[in-house]
Amino acid sequence: MKFKINQKNEGITIKLVDSNKIDTDFLMLLKNNNIFKGLKNEIYFDVINNVIYLGIGEEEKLNYYDLKIIFYNLGQTLQKNKIKSISFDLYKINNLCTYRLALALSSGLLHSTYVFENYKSNKNDVVDTEINFNVVENKVNKVQEAIKEAENIVSGIFLAKNLVNEPANTIYPETLANIAKNELEPLGVKVTIYGKKEIEEIGMSAFLSVARASEKEPKFIVMEYLNNPESEEKIALIGKGVTYDSGGLAIKPASSMVDMFTDMGGSATVIGAMKSIALNNLKTNVIALVASCENMISGNSYRNGDIINSLSGKTIEIINTDAEGRLTLADAIYYATSNLKVNKVIDLATLTGACYSSFGERVSAVVTNNDEFYQDLENAAKISNEYIWKMPNISYYKNMNDSSVADIKNAGGKFGGIMTAGLFVGSFLADENIPWIHIDIAGTAYINTPYDHYNKGGTGVLVETLYNLFK
Ligand code: BES
Ligand code: MN
Ligand code: ZN
Repeated sequence: MKFKINQKNEGITIKLVDSNKIDTDFLMLLKNNNIFKGLKNEIYFDVINNVIYLGIGEEEKLNYYDLKIIFYNLGQTLQKNKIKSISFDLYKINNLCTYRLALALSSGLLHSTYVFENYKSNKNDVVDTEINFNVVENKVNKVQEAIKEAENIVSGIFLAKNLVNEPANTIYPETLANIAKNELEPLGVKVTIYGKKEIEEIGMSAFLSVARASEKEPKFIVMEYLNNPESEEKIALIGKGVTYDSGGLAIKPASSMVDMFTDMGGSATVIGAMKSIALNNLKTNVIALVASCENMISGNSYRNGDIINSLSGKTIEIINTDAEGRLTLADAIYYATSNLKVNKVIDLATLTGACYSSFGERVSAVVTNNDEFYQDLENAAKISNEYIWKMPNISYYKNMNDSSVADIKNAGGKFGGIMTAGLFVGSFLADENIPWIHIDIAGTAYINTPYDHYNKGGTGVLVETLYNLFK
């Protein structure tokens, strides 16, 4: 998809239609015949006059996100009809400023171009449509900036989607680390990859317990983007990077195992967010960390009943080898807050089946120790139209992780799985007062039922929210 501004082209003209302002004879005819009424998300392609009409419902009720979806749908129509070029007069719509307007239209259109068919022998030929926006002269720069920002955000989201969609035979710790390096280093992010020996030297023994049955070497990936020397603030983004979760000795049933190549969804989100942040050159300091491994089975597996160590020195009773994500996160979060001394932490993880069954595929669950920090995230989620929900953080749930033989246990029992898993991770902060947010994306990182501008598969969930938080 190529965006142009104020260029004459022979393409198809796009017109918005307010359902209360059907004013031409032609539109009246369509309405009277129940073909097109200008309702939100209706599309009518007038092939004789080369016009596509987009229904917007009532203009005064239209918001940023509605427009994004309307233009996402337009993008799909362009693809379906193999349309090579279109032209649209960008004038004021409702109360949106030109910048937000251009951002909504271009990001909606860009989202419609996503396909994942690396493994299809018969690929659809994708048309590279030219989009021409006609704009008044003094708004040209604003529109250009908005298009660039949209392209950069979507590029981070597409990276996250691809990482999730790739199966575990192509994405494993080493390839994940190499992709992070190749994608981010050219953008000014320092990427350090620690192998097994170095991870041992650091002392991340909880992480290594999970990794140990796999033939694939674990990798600890640290990505530093320090672009605001004036600020003391350094925020860690930690992503669960379990590239395959068989459950370990507590093996999952076959049907629950199929999708477990997506168990690195947290790492995909943080790598994608780093890309969007760095591409747009945000003035901020972020360090992303991924302790990546596979949870497999061998004669060397860690076992239910083992008592293991961790980087923090806390001992952990293993109740269930399938509660592996929190063990990898425990060492990463301790490393971030102790070795790297970050002052705030956000971790993202496809952590619990409990989250999936409670919230389905639309809402991510949050556990936090800091309401002010949460408020910032909620604001960022709102403008990104992504859904998060704050769970109760009370000692009742935390105490469920108490072990009779070790300092803590890795599964809290049958109640409150989202909270017990989240609070397990939080108890590995080097200092419990460090503002921390945990986000469980078990249901949202990879979806079976498409909605809005999300297709089936990896979603890149919360890349945009994190980007907007840092912005
Ligand atoms: N990766 C899974 C959680 C998951 C389940 C993600 C479904 C996406 C979809 C996680 O490692 C896991 O297995 N959690 C267990 C924990 C339990 C053993 C305490 C769970 O939720 O069943
Ligand atoms: Mn598991
Ligand atoms: Zn897992």
